[in-house]
Amino acid sequence: MCGIVGYVGKRTAQDVLLNGLKRLEYRGYDSAGIATLDDEDNPHLARSVGKISDLEQVISEKPHTGHMGIGHTRWATHGGVTVSNAHPHNVGNIFLVHNGIIENYKELKAKLSNYDFRSDTDTEVLAALIDSNYKGDVSLKDAVAKSLKDVRGTYGIAVFSPKEPGTIVAARLGSPLIIGLGHDETIIASDASALLGYTREAIYLNDGELAVCNSNGSEVFNLNLKHLNSHPEEIEGNLEQIQKGGYDHFLLKEIMEQATTLPNTLSGRIDVENGKMHLGGPNLTAEEMRNIHHVVIVGCGTAYYAGLLASYYMEQLIPDVTTEVVIASEYRYRSFHLPKDSVALIVSQSGETADTLACLREIKKRGVKTLGIVNVVGSTIAREVNGGTYVHAGPEISVASTKAFTAQVVTMLMFAGMIAEYHGGNPDLIHSFTRELSILPAEIEKTLNDHRSEIEQLAKKYASFDDALYLGRDTAYPIALEGALKLKEISYIHAEGYASGELKHGPIALIDDRFFEVFTILDNWLFDKSIGGLHEVRARGGKVIVLTNSTADIEADDIVRINSNVKLLAPILINTLQQLFAYYVAVERGNDVDQPRNLAKSVTVE
Ligand code: AGP
Repeated sequence: MCGIVGYVGKRTAQDVLLNGLKRLEYRGYDSAGIATLDDEDNPHLARSVGKISDLEQVISEKPHTGHMGIGHTRWATHGGVTVSNAHPHNVGNIFLVHNGIIENYKELKAKLSNYDFRSDTDTEVLAALIDSNYKGDVSLKDAVAKSLKDVRGTYGIAVFSPKEPGTIVAARLGSPLIIGLGHDETIIASDASALLGYTREAIYLNDGELAVCNSNGSEVFNLNLKHLNSHPEEIEGNLEQIQKGGYDHFLLKEIMEQATTLPNTLSGRIDVENGKMHLGGPNLTAEEMRNIHHVVIVGCGTAYYAGLLASYYMEQLIPDVTTEVVIASEYRYRSFHLPKDSVALIVSQSGETADTLACLREIKKRGVKTLGIVNVVGSTIAREVNGGTYVHAGPEISVASTKAFTAQVVTMLMFAGMIAEYHGGNPDLIHSFTRELSILPAEIEKTLNDHRSEIEQLAKKYASFDDALYLGRDTAYPIALEGALKLKEISYIHAEGYASGELKHGPIALIDDRFFEVFTILDNWLFDKSIGGLHEVRARGGKVIVLTNSTADIEADDIVRINSNVKLLAPILINTLQQLFAYYVAVERGNDVDQPRNLAKSVTVE
């Protein structure tokens, strides 16, 4: 999605803006630009389609010298990918960058007929609206506040004017904005990673707030210009975390670092000796936990699959609680009913996914308690849920979600283990899960290190296929779905995940030379059933890779056998191999692994 950086202070603004926009590249974009004000209060604007490197080419012809400015990476929503649609937009005395969607921009545009619009964007209309209110002795802050009251939709904006050098006004509604407070400098960004290296202290703007920024800091107001007390917070993460750490791609770094980030997820939340799990975030009283009898888990994509896997564990752990896992983009439009004794887990790595956020707001309207299972600290979902838990997977830069999936499953499992105690859950089973959680990071590290080169060879062998089926039963079924998503989104191979028990209900008709199959077979009570499915596929000439934690003899074209003390959580281990497989296939196919075509890291539009 789009990225915003603003700067006012002692440094050359151009350098800070470009560096910040590069930190935001992972969010996915198709054009970029910066606008600065030089020390003689002359504005300069540079925009380009394509990558930041294309923008740098444009700027190199006429470098910007000023010490304040704004920058933007755009992921097209209104209007095509053109320079005229790229941000920043300049209308009259206003220079503006904007994340979000102005839903009533046509209505506003009709009232601004005295302006000559040069783009197809909703953002230019907002710039014109602010300019139309910025007359006489009206301050920029007043003009922005007055204009935003007429806006319907979502926005994260940064605005400046040559009439007020040294001042940048920022405001947010539904699209994140953070104000970094440095020494004699202030940096505005839509994502904390752009602030790292400049400051660790930041103000997370809330919806409906507006900030007036200068080199001495920032003052926060509501849209009625009532001054608000702002509380700076420490930014999580560091520069090293957002560098690639020596790996070729962020994706490989994030797959391999699960063993070191997962302890952060578990930290202080499991008691192996006593077989207990505890999450502080949901701030549920014992009474409230006892009264939960239905859990609805909401998410999109990988977050949805994490919820699906967690729901299997939840059913095993909590005998009298029903679970429901829903796709946010469907659920938000359904006439859904939730029993009063429900709780909703809102699962999102970015905490900004529009459909998931919409579900959160709809569920809250029904008076149901919402708990966030979120990775990005200070994200919109994290700020709007009633309670919740950060999964602490650290910044996940690559578009394909990997370490966050594992952290989300583990966090929801700990939630289940916590409330199970209040519902007569089997203490031995709770203890078994707790013990497996405690060794899971080391087991992930062992699994990845033991099988990385084997998986890389397999990827080379199967990279030329264009179709794949991922199959699994029980807790291997959500893993089949997630494995297929990982492969399709970065290799562009058509991959489908299926419950292996469904094969005879249709998919088996697909088996021919076009396809290969990835079949997860767990060493559990359904092993024989899974082997039956494997034989069905092989009998029809299917080329099968079996991923398993069983030591039994299994006939397949290729077998990857993990040897682990983890049984209940074996699907999580096997999924890390699926992540590696998808990565190496994508590399083999020469794809842009961290920024796959058409995708963005956070889908903040519907
Ligand atoms: C996963 O690899 C994809 N990038 C995508 O499905 C993602 O999981 C989905 O968009 C949800 O994102 P969120 O977790 O940030 O809400």
